[in-house]
Amino acid sequence: MIRVLGIETSCDETAASVVTLEGDAAPKILSNIVLSQIEEHAAFGGVVPEIAARAHVEALDGIIEAALADSGAKLADIDAIAATAGPGLVGGLIVGLMTAKAIAAAAHKPLLAINHLEGHALTARLTDGLEFPYLLLLVSGGHTQIVAVRGVGDYQRWATTIDDALGEAFDKTAKMLGLPYPGGPNVEKAAASGDSTRFTFPRPMKGSAQPDFSFSGLKTAVRQAARAIAPLSDQDVADICASFQAAVADALGDRVSRALSRFRQEFPGKAEPALVVAGGVAANRTIKATLEALCAEAGFQFVAPPLKLCTDNAAMIAWAGIERLRAGIAQENATDFVPRSRW
Ligand code: KG4
Ligand code: ZN
Repeated sequence: MIRVLGIETSCDETAASVVTLEGDAAPKILSNIVLSQIEEHAAFGGVVPEIAARAHVEALDGIIEAALADSGAKLADIDAIAATAGPGLVGGLIVGLMTAKAIAAAAHKPLLAINHLEGHALTARLTDGLEFPYLLLLVSGGHTQIVAVRGVGDYQRWATTIDDALGEAFDKTAKMLGLPYPGGPNVEKAAASGDSTRFTFPRPMKGSAQPDFSFSGLKTAVRQAARAIAPLSDQDVADICASFQAAVADALGDRVSRALSRFRQEFPGKAEPALVVAGGVAANRTIKATLEALCAEAGFQFVAPPLKLCTDNAAMIAWAGIERLRAGIAQENATDFVPRSRW
């Protein structure tokens, strides 16, 4: 039996979790505490690194205590501590990793320095027991990537964004239209009563031989459209949001379908290939429906872990720790590990 305490502080969520794995049974999340700082950043329209770091300092000890209490385990029962060591905002990473080092040293436990993206990449194995290899689409406020997940520690990035992350494009679009932060859910809500055909926004990279994403041109087109018809009525805002979302779904779908074909070529023996989505943008129903349809057409299983485990959390970090321990590729006793904001 392996039992790991996970700690996540790379952006604006302070999180701790205990995950356990026993024999051949499915892993169990014994506790999963996430404290969002959204309200502290809302007034600024985005995450302010200094505020985030301070909030992590204030909250982390209590969150870890709560995660241990919730799990029913004592620190003595924990086999290892896994903490996000990058990429992310360096202030938060320092808070999380230093706290983990202190606990590991005091309790004589091994410390695992985990890459946040590995946490997202392996979540579908925690929730769905997915077998390698599979394709991952990570769409969050900081990342837009397609990754071929071939094994623990064996990831091949097939596409990334050459400018804005997709969540960032949602957030900036919301800001331009006077919608509150975080923008994604509010754009989706407004879009529900909008006409997605009123504006024809560009579909960046659609049809391109290069596999990457781009969203800044779309953002600029939205700004120009909004300026041209200002002052905006609620209906104008709804129509822009609906048209923006349609363009995003179309552009994203094009990139993903390209990656599905590549996956078929590179892993011809894989009987039931799967596409996993992770990140906050995966909550968007229009985007989800587009991806689901693509997968159905291409014969891929569509795996969307519960949103709570798709957005930033510490269960995925604890799980990545377990995967590394089990695979024998842990960076154990990473007491000298320095946080890497760009890992
Ligand atoms: O994964 P996440 O919670 O945090 C990180 O960025 O790591 O993702 C947050 C992002 C934000 O940009 C937010 O606007 C976006 O996900 N988002 C959405 C929706 N819900 C959250 N974007 C589009 N539609 C949504 N329903
Ligand atoms: Zn994340």
